[in-house]
Amino acid sequence: MLTVRAPATSANLGSGFDVFGVALGTPADVIRVERAPETTITVTGAGSEYIPEDPAKNTVGAVAKALDAPARIRIDKGVRPSSGLGSSAASAAGAAVALNALYDRGRSRRELVPVAAEGEALVSGEAHADNVAPALLGGFTIVTDDGVTQVDAAVPVVACLPEISVSTRDARGVVPDSASMDDVVDTVGSAATLTVGMTRDDPDLVGSGMRDDIVTPERTKLIDGYESVREAALEAGATGVTVSGAGPGILAVCRRREQRAIASAMVDAFDAAGVESRAYQTAIG
Ligand code: HSE
Repeated sequence: MLTVRAPATSANLGSGFDVFGVALGTPADVIRVERAPETTITVTGAGSEYIPEDPAKNTVGAVAKALDAPARIRIDKGVRPSSGLGSSAASAAGAAVALNALYDRGRSRRELVPVAAEGEALVSGEAHADNVAPALLGGFTIVTDDGVTQVDAAVPVVACLPEISVSTRDARGVVPDSASMDDVVDTVGSAATLTVGMTRDDPDLVGSGMRDDIVTPERTKLIDGYESVREAALEAGATGVTVSGAGPGILAVCRRREQRAIASAMVDAFDAAGVESRAYQTAIG
């Protein structure tokens, strides 16, 4: 039997919609695989009741098929589905790594990105690699039509997950069709700032580079309490706050010394808005 830990990820980071992604230290899925004549899937853990075990309907089943690697697969979910922390990407990436090793398929992590993205497409309808790329490669990733650029990065963050559900379909439905040139120019400036911040492990540059006036303002309307949670995190010392992936998770970038206070402030602010939440004090890496 082979066991792989697959990390949560956060896509977009505000200014890098459908392009930027980061791997997070926690939470994570644990995937166990052993060779079998045909693929079976068992899912336990966070939100497992919402995940189909039928291999034809599970991201991991699609990955097993793509690698021609039938297996008994057990998924222990640490990354809750519909959280904005790349739940299906964690399972798809973890299964790709585990099955590639189990059957000696010899694919590199980079070569596994499209395999895991296809698995994701089965569930979400579209193959976005902005979660599977960081789940497979770690650190900070930039996904474009030309491929994936990866940078090792280490920046503290708080990922706060409210107990509300926002479907990726709804979150994509509010993305505007067009943007003003001013907003595009500002967002390009932010994205460039964030990228430099990642290469320097600089929470100030990463935080200020998350600013996005195109997609994020539309998505925050889907998250009860977002504005008060954002303000609370900034007051407690966060250098930047944005929606994690398609939401409803919220990501706050910070210095290590303020992390605990930011986590409490975010949970308290959600609480005041009548929403239960859980904060992970973790790091990009
Ligand atoms: N970039 C994607 C989005 C991530 O924000 O919709 C979720 O698949």
